[in-house]
Amino acid sequence: MLETRETHGPSSTETASRAAPYPATDATEQEPDDVARDKQLKRDEILGILSRHDGNRGGLISILDAIQAKHGYLSADALKVVADETGRSLTDIYGVATFYKSFSLKPRGKHLCSVCTGTACHVRGAPIIAQEFERQLGTSAGEMTADKEFTLETVNCLGACALGPIVVVDGHYFSNVDSARVKRVIKKTRAGLDKVEIKGDKRVFPITVSCSRCNHSLMEPGHLIDGAPSIRVTVSFEWKHGWLRLSSLYGSYTLESEYKIPVDTVLDFFCPHCHADLKGASDCPNCGAPMVSMIVQNGGIAQICSRRGCKGHMLDLDGGGF
Ligand code: FES
Ligand SMILES: [Zn+2]
Ligand SMILES: [Zn+2]
Repeated sequence: MLETRETHGPSSTETASRAAPYPATDATEQEPDDVARDKQLKRDEILGILSRHDGNRGGLISILDAIQAKHGYLSADALKVVADETGRSLTDIYGVATFYKSFSLKPRGKHLCSVCTGTACHVRGAPIIAQEFERQLGTSAGEMTADKEFTLETVNCLGACALGPIVVVDGHYFSNVDSARVKRVIKKTRAGLDKVEIKGDKRVFPITVSCSRCNHSLMEPGHLIDGAPSIRVTVSFEWKHGWLRLSSLYGSYTLESEYKIPVDTVLDFFCPHCHADLKGASDCPNCGAPMVSMIVQNGGIAQICSRRGCKGHMLDLDGGGF
């Protein structure tokens, strides 16, 4: 059975109905010593994490983030400790843990494979691709493989509809996927995904990009930055909404904007043509803010961090050609 993760926020009834995915307790009647020791160790780690965070809502998200980074997922025991120690209701904590798609209540495999079954990808055959992943991996969407290597999931839209069907593995985009490529995607993942990262000025080069939703060019040939046509998008932050022009020299951080944008501000990026949110599926490897994705002419996806001043970026020039 394929499950599709919803991207809208939970209503209170949804939160309540999703709030108890575990049995009432994880404890077995008589715990062997090593299980008890492991539990105590995890509890101590959680207490350490809690002592480093405060208890506001933003704090809760970073607490859950830190626990997941440490344990790989959020166990029922872990959430119970958070509830006990912060005085928050368990329902509230489950509400947050089940709302944000980055959190998992089940152990996750080493690699997270997300198959987009949003409308644009669906009409291009995404259900067949998802089924092929299930077949090749021997697991169902929403589950982990027996060897703990992969967790397979289906998601609603990964923000690159124009290149669909899209599959994202560990933040690495695969575009125009068909069922014949599924095996190769898995093989490539097992072998290690090479992210193409451009570092320093030595490899600065111009790119031509278009909107990841409508495919309309984002280039502005009449407005040069760094001597090359600029990339024009719309951004919003703190109730302000205006244009932003970026250098198209990949590796250059020169930009111009309608409003002064304070360093560290996380911006929402939109296509000036179809007004789609350009947020991609992955988070910045440097700072955790959402990455913004754009299609690179001749294939591939460029991603830049949405935080002003962060130099996190990634370029996948895969284009389906492997
Ligand atoms: S529907 Fe698949 S990326 Fe948008
Ligand atoms: Zn667009
Ligand atoms: Zn960043």
